[in-house]
Amino acid sequence: MNPFPFVDPIPLPAPVWLFKALHLLTLSLHFVAMQTFLGGLFLAVLFHVTGASNVLRKGAGAALARRLPILITFVINLGVPPLLFTQVLYGPFLYTSSELIGLYWFAVIFLVMGTYWLLYRFADASDKGRCAWWMGALAWVMVLFISKIYSTNMTLMLRPEVWPAMYAASPGGAHFPPHDPTFLPRWAFMLTGAFWVAGFWLIWIAGRKTTELSLGRYLAGFGGRLAAVMIVAQVGLFYAVLSAQPAVVRDGIAASLWLKGAAVAWCAGAVLVFVFSAWAAATKTCSYAAGYIALLLAVVTLAAWAILRDGIRDLTLASKGFDVWQQTVVTNWNVVGWFVLTLVLGLVALGWLLYVMMRAKPVAEGGMS
Ligand code: HEM
Repeated sequence: MNPFPFVDPIPLPAPVWLFKALHLLTLSLHFVAMQTFLGGLFLAVLFHVTGASNVLRKGAGAALARRLPILITFVINLGVPPLLFTQVLYGPFLYTSSELIGLYWFAVIFLVMGTYWLLYRFADASDKGRCAWWMGALAWVMVLFISKIYSTNMTLMLRPEVWPAMYAASPGGAHFPPHDPTFLPRWAFMLTGAFWVAGFWLIWIAGRKTTELSLGRYLAGFGGRLAAVMIVAQVGLFYAVLSAQPAVVRDGIAASLWLKGAAVAWCAGAVLVFVFSAWAAATKTCSYAAGYIALLLAVVTLAAWAILRDGIRDLTLASKGFDVWQQTVVTNWNVVGWFVLTLVLGLVALGWLLYVMMRAKPVAEGGMS
């Protein structure tokens, strides 16, 4: 039996490059939010566990816990668009792998709902000074599992050769895939990234007007130290991710200016992240500017990674006979035009909402009183 799915008979309604551009843009933003959330939730729990006798850690835990329910909305809303674009470009692959781990893939919905509920309880209990760390810890375990399911699916969709055996073993989608040497480095790479990005989140919060100076200096120092250590660990995993790829993918990256550029951009980003983190750790700077530099560095570095992992997917699938660029395209410019218009209007509305939020009267925080 040929496990390779037939190409979708319905042509793509817009050029591949447009879908790719939108996919990479939205996925980079999903990665920024998701990594901030994954690492930030862990830190919130850590600060709660260790904060009983330390007023600064207590303040840090409260500052993070109260922001987490908002942050998860960004994770989810910024995850939906790239999911739609991935389905358009790689439908037969993603659908098949999703079904083969269907039980887990479906479970994501309930895990996200459960996480939401726990986060609100965590934030509320933290605000009222009640013991709350276990709710955050449970939420983190669930989020960790979600991340494992995502990495599993994104690697399984590249392995049509294991699909028939998986289906034979469990048509109900209750089995994880057999060993894949690329999975663990890739998942670990995403997890490590969550900690330096969360370190940057602390630097961001340190610079807010609402954050008391002593708490801000603690957050900037802690965030800078954490980010400096974790980016070094992630550089090691970057190497591991690339080494785990088959030779055809490694050669493909080496032969592509675009992908080599993304790899170099990621490495340059990592160096800048390290230098900036070390500076933040040493100076404990609390400023808007430092927060925006942190945000910019995170977006650029994660965008470089999004491009590279997209290239790894295309090269892997090309080695198995599917070229994403060779799909039939019949562009419906009318629909594309309406799409761009609504996108621009949506961005304007979002900008206005952010403007209103920024101008809202600040409420002092710090958990110091
Ligand atoms: C707290 C919840 C979530 C976590 C922890 C999470 C984590 C992850 C991780 C680790 C990856 C990278 C997988 C890899 O490349 O190895 C990923 C990719 C992705 N996530 Fe999320 N995610 C979450 C929620 C969501 C939601 C709710 C959606 C959409 C509705 C979503 C959409 C995506 C998409 C589309 C990709 C990449 C697809 C591609 O490769 O093109 N995520 N996510």
